[in-house]
Amino acid sequence: MKTFKFFAVMAILGTAAYLFHIHSTNCGKTDPVHQSVSKIQPTTSRKTGHHFKDGLDMTLTVRMSSNAKLLKLFYCTMLRSLTLYWSGHLGNLGLILDKESKDDHKFAENLQKYQKKLGIDISFTYEPLPENKSVLTVVKRRPHGYNRQLYSSFIMDEFISTPIVAWTDTDGKFTTPVTRDNIFKGNKLRVKGMNTFQYHYIHRWSRFTEKMIGKHMPSDFMTYFPVYIWRDTITHCRNYILKHLNVSTIEEAYIRVGSTDSFQMSPVNTIMSYAYYFEKERYDWHIDIGNVELQKYNKLYLTPGHELTSLDITPDFHVTLHEKYYKDANNTVNRQAYCAAVKNTVLKMEHNIKQMCEPFKTHVMWVLFEFCNKVRQEHLTTWCKNKNKHCISMLKEHYDKTRQLVNKGVYNLDLKKFKVVEEAANFHKIKCQPFL
Ligand SMILES: *[C@@H]1O[C@H](CO)[C@@H](O)[C@H](O)[C@H]1NC(C)=O
Ligand SMILES: *[C@@H]1O[C@H](CO)[C@@H](O)[C@H](O)[C@H]1NC(C)=O
Ligand SMILES: *[C@@H]1O[C@H](CO)[C@@H](O)[C@H](O)[C@H]1NC(C)=O
Repeated sequence: MKTFKFFAVMAILGTAAYLFHIHSTNCGKTDPVHQSVSKIQPTTSRKTGHHFKDGLDMTLTVRMSSNAKLLKLFYCTMLRSLTLYWSGHLGNLGLILDKESKDDHKFAENLQKYQKKLGIDISFTYEPLPENKSVLTVVKRRPHGYNRQLYSSFIMDEFISTPIVAWTDTDGKFTTPVTRDNIFKGNKLRVKGMNTFQYHYIHRWSRFTEKMIGKHMPSDFMTYFPVYIWRDTITHCRNYILKHLNVSTIEEAYIRVGSTDSFQMSPVNTIMSYAYYFEKERYDWHIDIGNVELQKYNKLYLTPGHELTSLDITPDFHVTLHEKYYKDANNTVNRQAYCAAVKNTVLKMEHNIKQMCEPFKTHVMWVLFEFCNKVRQEHLTTWCKNKNKHCISMLKEHYDKTRQLVNKGVYNLDLKKFKVVEEAANFHKIKCQPFL
């Protein structure tokens, strides 16, 4: 498969970004927070700073296309939160788009003008249509684009060139500055999982995974973003599937397995289950098995010889929420999150931000132990039962680190960048609701 790469860092467009003017008067008077920030702080780029020394490069990767619903989530949820809480020091944003779509190319052309102002480099790669169009109808009740996106997960390594893929979705909303420690433990990539086997769909996902790699899902891995994956794990997983099913292309495997039943599927679960069974040592596992005894859990869900140990089930927290499945009508979480990030830093808070943060002065960010609240995906009744000290100290340690990063200027928490995002979104006539 050929890859079609187009890196957006082009001199001419860079110049255009400098000339881009922010209409500071666009912002309604009803939104005091937006008015408060006077000027965009320059954002240090990967080339000038090395706050995350390790030489391991990653791409925050989103497979999307330019339909109205995804665009709105992309700009209003993903990108706005990213501008605050994901640093270019960690890695660029990489978007994988539909090659044949004129709209996707237009979307990219518009967005790339803003990357300087947003403080993040964006790479755009274009994936051609699958050769066998049956790929687009495998999950029958779902549209072609959805099917294509699922399939695409198995070939992501062909469109992302960094050794690490940090895989997220348009509705993944960052809720805290991300530190290196949120991603790595030593040289292993952190993985989170949960026992959600009480839900029917998990068993369907597991059946799909079993057909693809011959193993039961050890846990549900669709419970956090970004999912950090060694790029070559995807390659290895794909090769394994081809061997396991005795087929010559991943398209054939996907169509064959997907069509044998009214399957639902979750490729991230297939790939991370592969990682668990075949590359366990390359990852640092944090599986919340719920309030079940480890031995019992192993008996129920793990293949003998591959049991979880007590080291695999220690707590970890989230740096994102799954927006579509997290009810928070008043954006309370966004305000709490911002206030927690800015608290006790060297940043000068405007009066209205101080006011906004007053009620949250002693607030503990328990929300970092949640992912969804429409379906239960949280650790407050398991790992963090009774709001225990261990979880409190994890949060404290995390915010000590984010404070250092803010004080060094790695994160500037500059709300003015929202205007850049909103201006870029305006190209598609998308209006974001206030964030704070
Ligand atoms: C597409 O895949 C289906 C199912 O494997 C197969 O029957 C069909 O011949 C394939 N079509 C093409 C054009 O390869
Ligand atoms: C795999 O498929 C090939 C051709 O499709 C066939 O000749 C071979 O016998 C199959 N091998 C196994 C182990 O099923
Ligand atoms: C949202 O805010 C409004 C006005 O302050 C309040 O009446 C309402 O109860 C809040 N809703 C939730 C879900 O917190």
